Amino acid sequence: MAKQKIIYDCDPGHDDAVALMLAANSPELELLGVTVAAGNQTLDNTARNACHVLQWLGREDVPVYAGCGQPMVRDRVTAGDIHGETGLDGPVFPPLRKTVEREHAVSYLSRALLASEGEITVVTSGPMTNLAMAMRMEPGVVEKIQRIVLMGGSYTNGNVTPAAEFNILADPEAAHVCFTSGRPITMIGLDVTRKVLCYPEIVERMAKADTRASRLFVDLMKHFCKTQKEVFGWEGGPLHDPVTIAFLLDPALVATKPMNVRVDLSRGDSYGRTNCDAFGYLGLPATADVAVDIDAERFWDLIEAGLRRYGGTEADA
Ligand code: BDR
Ligand code: CA
Repeated sequence: MAKQKIIYDCDPGHDDAVALMLAANSPELELLGVTVAAGNQTLDNTARNACHVLQWLGREDVPVYAGCGQPMVRDRVTAGDIHGETGLDGPVFPPLRKTVEREHAVSYLSRALLASEGEITVVTSGPMTNLAMAMRMEPGVVEKIQRIVLMGGSYTNGNVTPAAEFNILADPEAAHVCFTSGRPITMIGLDVTRKVLCYPEIVERMAKADTRASRLFVDLMKHFCKTQKEVFGWEGGPLHDPVTIAFLLDPALVATKPMNVRVDLSRGDSYGRTNCDAFGYLGLPATADVAVDIDAERFWDLIEAGLRRYGGTEADA
């Protein structure tokens, strides 16, 4: 069967890094390119982190494109409290050989999508600035997007404000552009990603895989779980972003419900909230399939299988 082509747009970020691990060696996916935006940290940091992770994984051949360093309208917010000063605090990487492509991420997204025949899924796990900008600059890309699978939003509580989740709050206007694009969207929000908490026993289990990917996973999770505990009191950090890739590998993993989703752009207390009409009160057409449940055991099996597919040495990292 043909591999599913994806472009992965992210802001690494500890959980973005784990998603990259899963995407970069899956037999079912063809990772065409990685685009990065400012989000968890500044653009310089997120671009460097994407390169470090791909180099560590032995996938220097996957191009990394740096995109927008600022949201479309609002001022930039970062998540240093969770991901640290570098955006990927914890692991110690070898000197970086891999470089970022010269082409801007928005230009790459436009070029790749326009040249496609509608077979590319765009996965986003950071603020949606790059994708929204591509849609605005080249409206022709919209119909070329097979679908958008995003980590972001929540129909319950947020994680930066009571109302809003980080990826949406970091660029609500960009999320609005994407949610109103008319393309098929699967929204993987906090409602399900908070069901995959990376408890210490999960970290121990992954450590046993003893591959270069699992060693990176352990180093990442040590930092991530510590800050998640400090900020939210969780005993295990919610592994948000890899749910997007796990869902592509096994769609039955996540239960979804079609809903009308509107991003609150009002600049009040609920700025950046994804208002999801779960009960269809508004009588409006559904604009996204919203994740409502996840098989957590199966998720961890997929993560472990992904980590085990990597070799054991770091010789080429
Ligand atoms: C999202 O925010 C970021 O900090 C994580 O990488 C994830 O994409 C969770 O709200
Ligand atoms: Ca992210």
